[in-house]
Amino acid sequence: MFGKSPPNRNETSPARRLTLRIFRHIPCVADNRPRIDTFLLDETPGMTLFLALTLIRDEQDPSLNFDCVCRAGVCGSCGMVINGQPGLACRTLTADLPATITLFPLPGFELVADLSVDTGKWMRGLTDRLEAWVHLAAEPNLDALEAPMEPELAEQIYELDRCIECGCCISACGTAQMRKDFMGAVGLLKIGRLRLDPRDIRNDADYYEVVGDNSGVFGCMTLLGCQDVCPKGLPLQSQIAYLRHEMMRRSFKK
Ligand code: SF4
Ligand code: SF4
Ligand code: FES
Repeated sequence: MFGKSPPNRNETSPARRLTLRIFRHIPCVADNRPRIDTFLLDETPGMTLFLALTLIRDEQDPSLNFDCVCRAGVCGSCGMVINGQPGLACRTLTADLPATITLFPLPGFELVADLSVDTGKWMRGLTDRLEAWVHLAAEPNLDALEAPMEPELAEQIYELDRCIECGCCISACGTAQMRKDFMGAVGLLKIGRLRLDPRDIRNDADYYEVVGDNSGVFGCMTLLGCQDVCPKGLPLQSQIAYLRHEMMRRSFKK
């Protein structure tokens, strides 16, 4: 239990004293057993969870591990379970939470230490498995002018490209927690994005080979926990429904 008082940084009285209960465990250290540590912290106006964690690390426990890079909801590194729900620490205001905040690492990913998980390794494996890049008909000619694309189509592709690979949708997904091979909403979203791209030479039969089983679109239970937690507000529900519909049609044709 870490209960010592932090230094007073404000002239004015803080509105609340926060209690942060934080999961601690470093699997690669022998005899390091999982535990919950408790920290007390004065809330300041506009405080994010990222700021709260940084203050705790600076002033109370320098051994606390968590990931934060951009502080702007862009890099996807600060995902964690915040009072039972996956979310981004840098985009979560403590004012939107009760005074007691419980933090766990995202489930479904390899734990590095405390609140830090290896989403990068998982996402890299997904990208390799789905071959989630544009498959061109020929080597690109880097000297050629850019090929034009209809603005509406470019807009649709851009919308799906906003995924920051934070992993929140995987941690909120019951299927992903039960099936380690399930590609989750993030995987289905990647395929939905590539299907839109006229430069990708793969057809629906090719995509069916990638997502047309229980590790893909037919493993999804459509309870939409993913949609509820996606910090970028991506249209996961419509993408899953569309892919499911198209792949069902494909399976009946087989
Ligand atoms: S789909 Fe949303 S929740 Fe899932 S990894 Fe991408 S940004 Fe994160
Ligand atoms: S709708 Fe599908 S992908 Fe989303 S959380 Fe549920 S099972 Fe997972
Ligand atoms: S620190 Fe980059 S998304 Fe939160």
